[in-house]
This record gives sequence, C-alpha cells and structure tokens, in this order.
Amino acid sequence: MLEKIKQLIAEIESFTTTSIEEVELFRIKHLSKKGSIAALFDDFKNVPGEQKKDIGKGLNDLKTAALNKINELKDHLCDTDQGKTGLDLTSPGDAIANGTRHPLAIVRNEILAIFNKLGFTISEGPEIEDDWHNFSALNFPEEHPARDMQDTFFIEKNPDIVLHTHTSSVQVRDMETHELPIRLVTPGRVFRNEAISARAHCIFHQIEALYIDENVSFADLKQTLTYFAKELFGAETQIRLRPSYFPFTEPSAEMDVSCSLCGGKGCNICKGTGWLEILGCGMIDPNVLELNGIDKEKYTGFALGMGIERITMLKYGINNLRLFFENDIRFLEQFTAAI
Ligand code: DAH
Repeated sequence: MLEKIKQLIAEIESFTTTSIEEVELFRIKHLSKKGSIAALFDDFKNVPGEQKKDIGKGLNDLKTAALNKINELKDHLCDTDQGKTGLDLTSPGDAIANGTRHPLAIVRNEILAIFNKLGFTISEGPEIEDDWHNFSALNFPEEHPARDMQDTFFIEKNPDIVLHTHTSSVQVRDMETHELPIRLVTPGRVFRNEAISARAHCIFHQIEALYIDENVSFADLKQTLTYFAKELFGAETQIRLRPSYFPFTEPSAEMDVSCSLCGGKGCNICKGTGWLEILGCGMIDPNVLELNGIDKEKYTGFALGMGIERITMLKYGINNLRLFFENDIRFLEQFTAAI
C-alpha cells in the first residue's frame, strides 16, 4: 500500500494543466468521495496495526499533496485569467509594426504646414480638366508654343479634355469660386507624357500657392519664399531668384535655394554651383486676373509652384525618382517621420 501511495504522490506532483476544467476533473479523480484517496482511506482499516503509523502518515501526505496541487494550479490559472478565457492575458503581446508615411506625403505635409502658418488654406481640384482650366484661363492662347512646355495626355480632343498637367488648373477653379482675398495652397497629382527615368515620371506631385489681394507686391512674394525656404531647409538657407517665363505670371522667376547638402560650397548634387532650383513663381499676369473675372486695376497677386518629388529628392538625398513609385518596403520604412 505504501508503494501505491508513493506512486500516487508522484503522479499528483507531476500533474499539470492549463485548463480549470481539468483541475476540477483532477479533484474529482483524487479527492471526491469516490476518488482514489478516499478508496485508500477505506482500505486503511485493513492495514495491520504495526504498519498503521507509516501508512497513516503516507495517506495524510498524499491528501496534502493533492490539495496543494489543486490550490497551486487554481492560483496560477486565476492570476493569468486563463481559467476564464483559456488565454494567458498577462503574457506580453507581439508589437504590431506601425506603417510609415510615404516620403512624398511627409514632404507634402511639411510644405502645407509651412504655408498654413502663413494663413494659406488647402484647396484641391479635379485631375481631369478641360482646356479652359488647364490652359486658356492661364493665358496659354490656342496654338501658343507655351503649350508645348507640357507634354499633355489628352482624354478627348475637340473639345479637349486632359489629365491636368499642373496644379495651376486648380487655381483657376479657386479664382472662379472664392471670394477675394484668396490665399490658398493646392497640392495635387499631375500628369505629363514623359518617358520614365531616374529624373522624370509621367505622374508626379505639385504644390502651388496663390495669393490675390489689394497691394500684393513682388516683395511679399520674396518674403514668403524666404520664409518658406528657411522653414523647409533650415534657418541658414539662402534663396536667389532668376528671371524666367511662365504664361500666367509676369514677371516670372525661378527660385534656387543654397544647397543644403554642401552648404553652398558646391557638390555633385548641386553640380558644383552651390544652388538648387526648386520652384517657379511670379506675379499673376493681369491677363489671367481679367480672364478669371478679377478686377486687375484693384487686385494683384502672386503664385508659386513646385514639384514635391524634386524637393523630397533634395531633402533626403534620393537619386532615383522611380523609388517613389515602386513601393519597395525596404525603401519606404526608412521614413519614420510622425507627420
Ligand atoms: N505650373 C508650372 C509648371 O507646372 C509651375 C509654376 C510656375 C506654377 C510658376 C506657378 C508659378 O504657380 O507661378 O511648370
């Protein structure tokens, strides 16, 4: 009998489970009225007198071992809530990796935030446009060679419906619908029939800013550009304006910023010049104001437009535009900015 008691103690001590139901079955098996221990206690009366002491102690040890085991299992299961759900709710979870924003979205948001601080609000417009909004209202007369500056994707011909080639088309819609003064930034995707290469793509992103009010001057434009460049590329950034041509602005300029990678000393990103071209701008041509029903005697305005891909490439030192469109996770997960 002593042998049997030892075996049962060993069995009880090695018992383990993760379910509260099994603990209950274990209790019934060993500690109920018809359980294994009660059966041994029944046999106890047949034990010869001289063995009663040892076997009595063995039986008590057995009962204690069973009770301890049950308490221990119950305590553990309640602690971890496994008793209720079958799950260990205290075990540490597997962290879910957060996605990251696309670099173009990061830079777009940064640019918009800078203009928001200057009081510009966001406006968006359609990607499919008629000729009026993409060209004519922006002072691109019919047959004007300036139309060739932008290789257009036509959806329909006569009357022409196009994929807008610049976000300037949104400015036309803004001039139609907004009360003056207007102070807007227009982010958007634009389309041009260009061969895809490391430097060009047929789809890219632009942001334009438009400001029309009484007494808006070129000095306001330059001040806005200086503030913008310093906010985006750092306080030490310098700007310079070079005369240029756009049909919708007069005078027109292109803006360069001092190269943020070499600090203006000259490197292979700025091709040794110390300057990087980042946007086009100018005073809105009075013809454009007139075409859009704005009193050109009373109001003046400026506009500026930039490509987000180009600025992102310069900011992050990316040398291949195709990376933005390939969605390679190894490229994208390097951009962890919070905005
Ligand atoms: N629309 C021009 C382009 O896509 C960029 C641009 C230049 C926009 C000057 C402007 C501007 O608003 O003033 O090439």
